[in-house]
Amino acid sequence: MEIKPYLREISLKRERLTGLNQYPFNIPAVRELDHLSFHPDVTFFVGENGSGKSTLLEAIALALGFGPEGGTRNVRFSTADSVSPLHQYLKMVKSFAKPQDHYFLRAESFFNVATYMDETGYIGGYDNKSLHARSHGEAFMSVMRDKLHGNGLYLFDEPEAALSPSRQMAALVAIHRLVEERSQFIIATHSPILLAYPRSKIVLFDGTGLSEVRYEDTEHYAITRHFLNNHRKMVETLMQDD
Ligand SMILES: Nc1ncnc2c1ncn2[C@@H]1O[C@H](COP(=O)(O)OP(=O)(O)OP(=O)(O)O)[C@@H](O)[C@H]1O
Ligand SMILES: [Mg+2]
Repeated sequence: MEIKPYLREISLKRERLTGLNQYPFNIPAVRELDHLSFHPDVTFFVGENGSGKSTLLEAIALALGFGPEGGTRNVRFSTADSVSPLHQYLKMVKSFAKPQDHYFLRAESFFNVATYMDETGYIGGYDNKSLHARSHGEAFMSVMRDKLHGNGLYLFDEPEAALSPSRQMAALVAIHRLVEERSQFIIATHSPILLAYPRSKIVLFDGTGLSEVRYEDTEHYAITRHFLNNHRKMVETLMQDD
């Protein structure tokens, strides 16, 4: 039997649901969630701003025992009281094999994780240099390089937020290396560069719920391509429309 995917599938414990008009169950992608199966290597979450990607990723992280602010499973603290109860309603189907490594990267709270690492003197795993003493992108690449050991289950929320286009390609390579070392990723992203990673499944969040899409059929691919090929005209048109 295959070790991966560590996290095979999630489903919503629908029978226990109450408050369908309230966050997070008022989000179509959450309300319509039935079964979602994961790719052994990389599963991408894509969709418009506000379509529920972070909400679901965070709920998966909490159901797996990660702290809401991200970091390793040992980093358990919360500076936000905005955590949704969705994790209590998720049924998780896991592999018989347990991942040996974990990381939950939330772009929004990377700063807080870095602070916590400094305050607790927990910088051994990061090349002995405070994450605050690096640029956002350098700090992220340092986590990729020094902190993730393979055989891991890694959840990333918009990792591209910190990264220049060439660093996004470097991140692709780093992700691939970890995939080859028996790791599984779930990544919420808007990056047409990251989405190009072929050993993946792309899950689209929209008003109808969740569906699988091909890379070339994502808006990220189509719009970016169209924009770059026609940028002068596009910008002109956009200005006129405004
Ligand atoms: N704590 C909260 N309480 C109430 N509503 C919330 C809360 N957090 C998020 N929402 C709402 O839930 C919806 C989904 O938010 P979420 O952050 O999951 O979107 P997203 O797909 O990650 O978007 P983005 O691409 O902008 O990161 C949004 O409409 C948001 O305003
Ligand atoms: Mg988000």
